[in-house]
Amino acid sequence: MSQYSSKAVVTDTVLTGITTTGTPHLGNYVGAIRPAIDASQKTGINAYYFLADYHALIKCQDPGMVHQSSMEIAATWLALGLNTDNVVFYRQSDIPEITQLMWFLNCVAAKGLMNRAHAYKDSVQKNQDSGEDQDFGITMGLFSYPVLMAADILMFNATKVPVGRDQIQHIEMARDIAQRFNHVYGEHFALPEAIVDDYVAVLQGLDGRKMSKSYGNTIPLFSPEKQLKKHINKIKTNLLEPGEPKDPDTSTVFQIWRAFASEEQTLAMRREFENGIAWGEAKKQLFELIETELREPRERYNELLKNPSHIENLLNEGAERARAASTPFMAKLNRAVGLYSLS
Ligand code: TRP
Repeated sequence: MSQYSSKAVVTDTVLTGITTTGTPHLGNYVGAIRPAIDASQKTGINAYYFLADYHALIKCQDPGMVHQSSMEIAATWLALGLNTDNVVFYRQSDIPEITQLMWFLNCVAAKGLMNRAHAYKDSVQKNQDSGEDQDFGITMGLFSYPVLMAADILMFNATKVPVGRDQIQHIEMARDIAQRFNHVYGEHFALPEAIVDDYVAVLQGLDGRKMSKSYGNTIPLFSPEKQLKKHINKIKTNLLEPGEPKDPDTSTVFQIWRAFASEEQTLAMRREFENGIAWGEAKKQLFELIETELREPRERYNELLKNPSHIENLLNEGAERARAASTPFMAKLNRAVGLYSLS
C-alpha cells in the first residue's frame, strides 16, 4: 500500500514574500531567487509568491523609488523564468484583505511580543548607543512589521514559508498570533512553519565576506556585460603568480564558480587551481560561466522593462487568483469576529 493511499492527501501551501527594495545581486540570486524559481517549475504545488510592497514603505519613502523597485523586482523574477501558471504571483498592495486582516491580528497580538522583534530591538539599540531617545525614528510601520507579515501568511493559510534565517522569528510570531486568534475566535488559521534551506549557498562578495548590500561588496544580478566583467575582476585574490598552485577552498573566485558550475566543471576548476591557473584566467572563465547563465534572462529583463504593461497584466492575473481565496476567507473572518450584517 502506498503511503499516500490511506488518508486524504493534505497539501501544503507554500508562500513567500519578496521585499521590493534594492537591486538584486548574485548572492540573492543563488541563495533565494534561483531555488524559489526552480520550485515554481513543479506542477501540482499550491504556492503564493508576492511582492511585499507594503513592507517596502517601511524602509523607503521615496515614491519614485518604491514604484521603480516593484517594477524591477517583478521583471527580475519573470525574466529568470518564474512559472506564473504554477505559482500565484501578485503584489501585496493589490490584496486589500491583507491590511484588513492585519487590523484583526493587531487586536490580538501582544505588544510585548512585538517588543522582542529583532529588527525593532536593533533600532532601539542603535538609538541607545548614540544617546538618542530610544524611539527616535521608529515608526509604527517598523514596530508592526511582524503583524503585517503574519497577515501575509495567514491570509492564505500558508503552512510552509521559505525564508532566510533572519526571518525565522517573524514566522514564529505569525504562529503565535495565529494561535491567539484561533483561541479567541475558533480554528481559522493553519500554523505556518519556516522552511530554511541549510544547504543553500551563501555567496561570498568581492571582499570575501558574505555578499550583502550592507557590506557594499555585491555583484548586481543584471549589470550589463561590461560591468559584470569589471565586478568580477575586482574579486579579492592573493598574490600567487601564474603557475603557483592555489587553494580553491579559500578562494572567493572558486566559491562563486561552484555556485554556477556543474559538478564536472567544479572538479575541472579544482584541478586548474592545483595546476596554478592565473587569477586573470580564472576570472575570465568565471565571467564566461556567469554570463552564459545570465545572458538570456538579462535580455528578457531589459525587454520586460520596456513593456511594463505585460508585467502589469501578469500581476493583475495573479491578484485575481489570490483574491479568489482572500475575499471569501475575509468574509468568514469578519463574521467570526462579529462584523456582519444586522438584518
Ligand atoms: N520580510 C521578508 C523579508 O524581508 C519578506 C516578507 C514579507 C515575507 N512578508 C512575508 C516573507 C511573508 C515570507 C512570508 O525577506
